[in-house]
Amino acid sequence: MVQVKNCLLIALPTLLTIAVADRAAAQTTPPASTPPAASAPTPVRRAGGLVPGQKRPPGDPAQIARGKTLYGIACTSCHGADLRGGDLGGPNLLRSQVALSDQDGELIVPIIQGGRQNSGMPAVPMSPADAKAVAAYIRSEVGTIGSQGKPPSIGKPAPSILVGDASAGQSYFATKCSSCHSPTGDLAGIATRISDPKLLQNTWVAGGRGRRFGPTVSAPGSRRTITVTITEPSGESVEGRLVRIDDFLVTVALADGTSRTFRREGDVPKVDVHDPMKTHRDLLAVYTDKDMHDVTAYLVTLK
Ligand code: HEC
Ligand code: HEC
Repeated sequence: MVQVKNCLLIALPTLLTIAVADRAAAQTTPPASTPPAASAPTPVRRAGGLVPGQKRPPGDPAQIARGKTLYGIACTSCHGADLRGGDLGGPNLLRSQVALSDQDGELIVPIIQGGRQNSGMPAVPMSPADAKAVAAYIRSEVGTIGSQGKPPSIGKPAPSILVGDASAGQSYFATKCSSCHSPTGDLAGIATRISDPKLLQNTWVAGGRGRRFGPTVSAPGSRRTITVTITEPSGESVEGRLVRIDDFLVTVALADGTSRTFRREGDVPKVDVHDPMKTHRDLLAVYTDKDMHDVTAYLVTLK
């Protein structure tokens, strides 16, 4: 089990890298939802302020915009869209000493690169320039808060996640989601079960709540059970639930309740892993901000 968990922890950052790279490529111009640089929040400045974050010079707007996009892809699920902590257990970054003290990524970048893996934050591999851009975005948000740790939204209208177009979301759902889900079947009443739109959005984007990183993803009988087919050179093949896998061994639980472990040498035996959540992860690289908001606006109607 532990092996499966480790393997998933490695898989996550890998997909994030891909997603981030794809997004970055598409980001030569900022997305429509990114405010123009002129209206970007102006950091609150106080002479002799006690919070180091407020004494920093303003950041480069292009770098901050890029960092914001990357943050949205790689960090929101754990730290929240507003940086105040997310569904998957990341702490509030607006109150973080690390974020308050960071000057040019020297404190935040090593954490992104894996400095806190033992306490639950995975390494998120990004280029150093991307990690610095995320740090710049976090500093820019921290720079707008009051000294009491008030959120930057004070004095502005509360940001709503419900800015999407529900009928566009319905069409999107019909093309990208309906092969596996149905609004009258498994997702009927999802907006009643998960009444907070933000949590609903994080849940559908992640394909479920919490535990995404734990070994329970391969628990028996779940729709997210990872299965594996092992084919020996003789042609004999077995299929069952994946129990553990690394470069040297693979263990499979068979339908009759027994399990078998195979030694792996390179490509022998042939191992095909089927992860039902793979599509969810692949889709992460495909959604635009608009798609996400549209789908959320649609799912909110499934009461
Ligand atoms: C899987 C969830 C998860 C993801 C994804 C994640 N974090 Fe974290 N992060 C955590 C947890 C849990 C901690 C607390 C670790 C600790 O207590 O040392 C943390 C801690 C941090 C801290 C230190 C806060 C402090 O004051 O101690 C920073 C900064 C941070 N994360 C930034 C990021 C950034 C930037 C990203 C995206 C590139 C990111 N995290 C992605 C879970 C996550
Ligand atoms: C290839 C199949 C597949 C596709 C395509 C797919 N999903 Fe999923 N989705 C799953 C599986 C498997 C789960 C895990 C279900 C479980 O844990 O019982 C899941 C979980 C979810 C959940 C959590 C359900 C719950 O009850 O907590 C939501 C919401 C969701 N998907 C929405 C979507 C949306 C929206 C799309 C399209 C943008 C989509 N999915 C595309 C297979 C898919």
